[in-house]
Amino acid sequence: MRVFLASIPLQDTSVVIVGEGDAAHAKARLFSGSAARLSWFAGPDVDDGEGRIGRWPEAADLAGARLVFIATGHADVRDRAIEAARAAGAQVNVVDQPGLSDFHTPALIDRDGVVVGVATGGVAPVLARDVRSAIEAVLPAGLDRLARLAEGLRQTVIDTLPDFTARRRFWETAFRGPARDLAVEGRDAEARRQMLRLLNVSQAGEGVVHLVGAGPGDPELLTLKALRALQDADVIVHDRLVPKAVLDRARRDARLIYVGKSRGDHSVPQDEIADLLIAEARQGHRVVRLKGGDPFVFGRGGEEAEALRAAGVSVVVVPGITAALGCAASAGIPLTHRGQSQAVTFVTATTRDEGVSPDWQALAAPNHTLAIYMGVSDAAEVQGRLIAGGRSASTPVAVVENGTRPEQRVLTGRLDELAELVREGEVQSPALLIVGETADWASASAAGVSVQEAAA
Ligand SMILES: C[S@@+](CC[C@H](N)C(=O)[O-])C[C@H]1O[C@@H](n2cnc3c(N)ncnc32)[C@H](O)[C@@H]1O
Repeated sequence: MRVFLASIPLQDTSVVIVGEGDAAHAKARLFSGSAARLSWFAGPDVDDGEGRIGRWPEAADLAGARLVFIATGHADVRDRAIEAARAAGAQVNVVDQPGLSDFHTPALIDRDGVVVGVATGGVAPVLARDVRSAIEAVLPAGLDRLARLAEGLRQTVIDTLPDFTARRRFWETAFRGPARDLAVEGRDAEARRQMLRLLNVSQAGEGVVHLVGAGPGDPELLTLKALRALQDADVIVHDRLVPKAVLDRARRDARLIYVGKSRGDHSVPQDEIADLLIAEARQGHRVVRLKGGDPFVFGRGGEEAEALRAAGVSVVVVPGITAALGCAASAGIPLTHRGQSQAVTFVTATTRDEGVSPDWQALAAPNHTLAIYMGVSDAAEVQGRLIAGGRSASTPVAVVENGTRPEQRVLTGRLDELAELVREGEVQSPALLIVGETADWASASAAGVSVQEAAA
């Protein structure tokens, strides 16, 4: 180890900045909301005000200072400030001059109660900032809420669990369990209740089920929240629509349970899936129910959430990019566009489960994009009903098969060719039908295949 990162409590300490310019401003921003008292000497060229003092510091100004940052181009001011700061017992940082400094400033992630620092000993600050960005991307935004919750319960935990090892185990379980998820979600009261419940039983808490949207297939389209849930999961219950590339992002030792369904082949009935999720959660596991696209868009996520809540199991829903958004983007089709489409509807042509037919008359309105899910085997019916409802036979259509995945195909044509396009192109599920004026944009994209090409 070439450097050691220590953390300095800022409560009741004095931090001094000497200098003007961007570096001094950056340091002032860093400490302005902190618990330290800040004094900023910006030199005689600056008027007093906005937190700045318009002169250079005297030795007496640095008495009691804990940290002194020096960011001035005046070498005499700098050298006097270094000498006075050290004489006062302060630690000195001369910006961009590691050789003159007692300490270097790490790249910081400040989540109030949780601060992460990345240090390279002052030799590669840009690398430190890149590493910080990578860490920042995977840290939940609500981490400070979790730290504050822990701070509020600290004494209660000490009183309840005097044994150090028992306390350590409690915090490990609390920080990895449902209380953490609830706190970072901003559900502070529930998180506190969950922690207290855990404290009372002083053993492993109940599990939690995350209903996670996996997006349309490209693993880069997972949300940061979804990725974190996958990397924390003990058990992942997944669908046919979730490709291996997404499952590869999960924690290596997570247990994977496949409950995929293809149309007409309900390999695991819905109530059995709910029972499985409840049973796993009750064993204290962190369960991810991973669904293609978004769990609440034709994903039966609502039914599963309802069953879990009825069973008293905590549920956290993590939205995903639904097929319509992913397919449209990767086929180059704007779902709305000024002058071409003022509305978009996500609709399924399949009525077997719901038993209610879509209102084809309303869907046939012009300047209205339809993103039709589960429509491959009903393409002829979609075509016939929309034309009968008044939609022009020449309305552009696009069929996006395996949207966003390496094997994506995009077929384009007119509404009166839709069934033929699907049949001749031997389109397989998953595929999304897009009907509307903007579907024409896909033929301009390199991936576009016209009905003639598909039939060839
Ligand atoms: C049961 S629905 C699930 C929808 C999912 N919850 C969502 O938000 O995308 C399955 C249908 O979504 C569409 N779909 C899902 N992923 C797709 C993809 N990568 N490419 C094309 N269509 C897709 C297809 O129409 C498929 O038949």
